[in-house]
Amino acid sequence: MINNYELYNPTKLIFGEDRIKDITQYLPRESKILFVYGQGSIKHNGIYQKVIDLLKGYDYVEFGGIEPNPKYENLMEAVKLGREYKIEFIFAVGGGSVVDGAKFISAAIPFDEDPWKLVSDKLDFNESIPLGTILTLPATGSEMNKGAVISNKSKGDKLALISEKLFPKFSILDVSVLSSLPKRQIANGIIDAFVHTTEQYITYPINAKLQDRFAESILITLIEEGPQFYNNVENKEVGANIMFSATMALNGVIGAGVPTDWSIHMIGHELTALYNIDHARSLAIILPVLYRIKIEEKLSKLVQYAEIVWQITEGNDKEKAIKAIYLTEKFFQSLGVPTKLSDYDVDLEYTIKVIKEKFAYRNMLNFGENGIISINDIDPILRGAY
Ligand code: NZQ
Ligand code: ZN
Repeated sequence: MINNYELYNPTKLIFGEDRIKDITQYLPRESKILFVYGQGSIKHNGIYQKVIDLLKGYDYVEFGGIEPNPKYENLMEAVKLGREYKIEFIFAVGGGSVVDGAKFISAAIPFDEDPWKLVSDKLDFNESIPLGTILTLPATGSEMNKGAVISNKSKGDKLALISEKLFPKFSILDVSVLSSLPKRQIANGIIDAFVHTTEQYITYPINAKLQDRFAESILITLIEEGPQFYNNVENKEVGANIMFSATMALNGVIGAGVPTDWSIHMIGHELTALYNIDHARSLAIILPVLYRIKIEEKLSKLVQYAEIVWQITEGNDKEKAIKAIYLTEKFFQSLGVPTKLSDYDVDLEYTIKVIKEKFAYRNMLNFGENGIISINDIDPILRGAY
């Protein structure tokens, strides 16, 4: 079977050591710039000062304080500032949350209606402010993709905004930014990249050999390098392998022309919206149980995953799949990440009720590849995860 596809990615990746200084080559001198960042990590690790020194001679305004799982309410403050200063370029320095926040700001500034509708109603938009980034946390792939995930505090929603107008013009991936990463964020990044890959790989076979080999390479690299990076963040070569893996996991390449799942992310986002569980940690809770429940539907790819990624040779197909899911869960746990919902302070019955209601409201009755996950599966998935 051949799925038609279009592959487009205009982001220039500027990768390596000592690359931050190169922003002066890529940031437009003639544009008014909005410089956005997160809640302070760049001030502690010296990146902020480095950037400020490089911005001498540029016309810019700053907006700091974008929070993890960026909130619409806070981002609208940046939109106000950007409109007031008539900014023409956005420069984001941070992790996925800052980059996603910058993408929302980029679409919202020129948008005439209520910008939340860009996210909630997926309204089309014609204009966006161009943006460039320095990525400080390898995880989401946002530095080289067209997506952003935005939360609305008052509505309790966490939803994606996707448009080709949101690709960064450039992203600087400088491995020297990694040394200040806390272990928790290192683990989160590895797991997020891992699950991005499985969402586009563990579905059903269509003989898309190269996409499969790309996905398997990313998974094997994360399994080999992840624990080393977790234990020694100073190892720049390992850090570089993790960084490129995370970017490649969600820049469009491995998902071109293959069936994709994304149900783990959809349910995970709800857990974050409800309980503020870190994004990757929500995925680590859902993946094992969802694969166990859908083992028959996903069996061929789970067996392929078991044999190629985990080198499992013993047992029948089902036993191989079960072993691979078990090893995946152990891998997450080896990075200090809990894999049970009961590891967090949650009300199970309430969680099931709210998530089912939200999916029903959004008319998401079936999802995953071929719609194999139904709204009725949410109950056993969350119970199994608890
Ligand atoms: O806020 P600051 O002070 O910058 O600190 C951050 C934050 O506390 C800190 N951090 C980042 N780089 C650091 C650092 N601390 C020390 N040294 C550094 N070099 O790490 C914390 C987490 O940052 P955040 O940006 O929230 O993490 P991540 O990159 O994992 O992004 C998560 C967000 O991305 C969304 C998630 O849902 C979540 O909202 N996603 C975006 C996607 C996309 N755009 O394609 C896809 C993903 O599936 C995901 O949904
Ligand atoms: Zn993710």
